[in-house]
Amino acid sequence: MLDKLQQILQEAKAKINSARTPQDLKAAQVEFLGRKSFLANAAQNIGRLPAEQRPLAGKTLNSVKKEITALLEEKQKSLQSQEQGIDISLPASPLEPAGKHPLINVINEICGVFEDLGFEIQEGTEVETEWYNFQALNIPLEHPSRDMFDTFYLNLSADKNKGKYLLRSHTSPSQIRIMEKRKPPLAVVVPGKVYRPDNVDASHSFMFHQIEGFAVGENINFSHLKGVLIEFARQAFSPETKLRFRPHFFPFTEPSAEVDISCLLCQGKGCSVCKQSGWLEILGCGMIHPNVLKAVNINPNKYQGFAFGMGVERIAMLKYGIDDIRLFFSNHKKFLGQFYEV
Ligand code: PHE
Repeated sequence: MLDKLQQILQEAKAKINSARTPQDLKAAQVEFLGRKSFLANAAQNIGRLPAEQRPLAGKTLNSVKKEITALLEEKQKSLQSQEQGIDISLPASPLEPAGKHPLINVINEICGVFEDLGFEIQEGTEVETEWYNFQALNIPLEHPSRDMFDTFYLNLSADKNKGKYLLRSHTSPSQIRIMEKRKPPLAVVVPGKVYRPDNVDASHSFMFHQIEGFAVGENINFSHLKGVLIEFARQAFSPETKLRFRPHFFPFTEPSAEVDISCLLCQGKGCSVCKQSGWLEILGCGMIHPNVLKAVNINPNKYQGFAFGMGVERIAMLKYGIDDIRLFFSNHKKFLGQFYEV
């Protein structure tokens, strides 16, 4: 009888374990604890055993019964929580190490260099108005230069004074936000997201990151701009990096320039990344236009400033040799995991 009890216990364990529904469990309960079960019968049969065997048989019977009851209860709980969508009997999913996104690493690195050069770091707003994104930056309404900054407009009623709401198409509006609140001298960098309704391909995304930088004070001139950017490039890329300033047009700076750095891959000799030119374009810059200073009530006869703006994705792609901007936003662990710092 003792052997048979152990065997019943094993059978009950197997049945209860494999129960998938409350009905399965009920059936197991009837089979092992019901009126016609072996255990029920055994209880009646104990009286027929020789007297010296009865205590042990009784004890074993009780403990088997108790164990089966406990197993049934436990399984019932786990089936209930499963019904609510939680299966506490499943092993927990393993924790995977996380890390910083490569774009965040590049932003931190670049901002760190400017911080060392005496700039403070601020953030702007992603939802802007036409005034901040355009007019205050000397881009008049209906002016063709707006085409440079094709824009997502938001379905909100316009602000009486500041115009329609939109997603900023560059980080330059942060210059206005900061200068309208504070007085020179100022030296600030502003990293953040910008939005343009571009078709997505290997080098375009409707959302990307820029880092804006500007300094305003008395007697600031183009040499200061050059000095800051040359020092930035040497620290952020390599001490041998050369810079080339090409005249350009931006409505909010005058004079304006685009800046190229000597190719990071071929050091200026010419390769496929720099299209054999030896140079890589990385940012736009210039002296802040007097009209921009006037828009924030700063007297352009007393104060001057410079400003620059760079695309983070482009710099990250050049730095790491990434050939498709979409990879940054794909959430592929294999791609992102390469940049985790251990
Ligand atoms: N805002 C310009 C752009 O998005 C970059 C820029 C910033 C140019 C500051 C000059 C000065 O292209």
